[in-house]
Amino acid sequence: MRKNFGKKAILAPLPVLIVATYDENGTPDAMNAAWGGQCSAHHVALNLAMEHKTTENLLKKKAFTLSIAGADNLVLSDYFGLVSGHEANKMEAAGVHVSKSAFVDAPVIEEYALTLECRVVSMEQRLGEMYVLGEVINMQADESILDDRGRVDLDKLKPLSFDSSARTYRVLGPTVGTAFKDGEQLVAREKPL
Ligand SMILES: Cc1cc2nc3c(=O)[nH]c(=O)nc-3n(C[C@H](O)[C@H](O)[C@H](O)COP(=O)(O)O)c2cc1C
Repeated sequence: MRKNFGKKAILAPLPVLIVATYDENGTPDAMNAAWGGQCSAHHVALNLAMEHKTTENLLKKKAFTLSIAGADNLVLSDYFGLVSGHEANKMEAAGVHVSKSAFVDAPVIEEYALTLECRVVSMEQRLGEMYVLGEVINMQADESILDDRGRVDLDKLKPLSFDSSARTYRVLGPTVGTAFKDGEQLVAREKPL
C-alpha cells in the first residue's frame, strides 16, 4: 500500500545555507535558507520570501556570502532563521565575528568554516517569491576542515541538513559509494538496443 500526500515538500537532503548581506548603511545581516543549492558548476540558486531583510539587501547590494552550516553552527544558524534583521541586529546579538569579503560587497561570518562569496546574476519574482541566481566568485575554507591534500573534507565540516518533514536538523552521513563508478556493474547486463 502506498499513501498519497498531495503537495508536500520532502526533497532531501536540504542544505542549511546562511546568506549574509550588508544593508545600505553597511550593517550586516544573515538568514537561514534551505530552499537553495548549487545549480551549475559556478552558480547557486536561492528562493527567498519578498519581505526578508536579506531580499531587500540583495536588491541594493547585488552581493552575498553563502556559508554552509556545520554541526558546530546549529544554534547560531537556527537563530538566523528565527528572527528578521528588520527586528534586530542578529550579528550583534549572536556575538559573531564579521569581516568584509575581499571579493564582493558582503560580510563573511568567521564562525562558519566554509563560505562562498557570490555576486547576484539575476533576481526574478516568481510565484510571489524572489528567485536569486548567484555566481560564485570565490570559495574560502578554514584550514580546520581541509584534508591532508588540501581539499575540503565534509567529514570534518559535518554539514547540517534541514529535515522539512520532521522540522529537525540532521548531519550528512558517511560515504557509502563512489559516484560515476558503482553503477558500472549494471552496464555489463545491458543488451544492445
Ligand atoms: C531551517 C530554516 C530554513 C529556512 N529556509 C528559508 C528559505 O529557503 N527561504 C526563505 O525565504 N526563508 C527561509 N527561512 C526563514 C528565514 O531564515 C527567516 O524568515 C529569517 O528571519 C529572515 O531573516 P532576514 O529578514 O534578516 O533576512 C528558513 C528558516 C529556517 C529556520
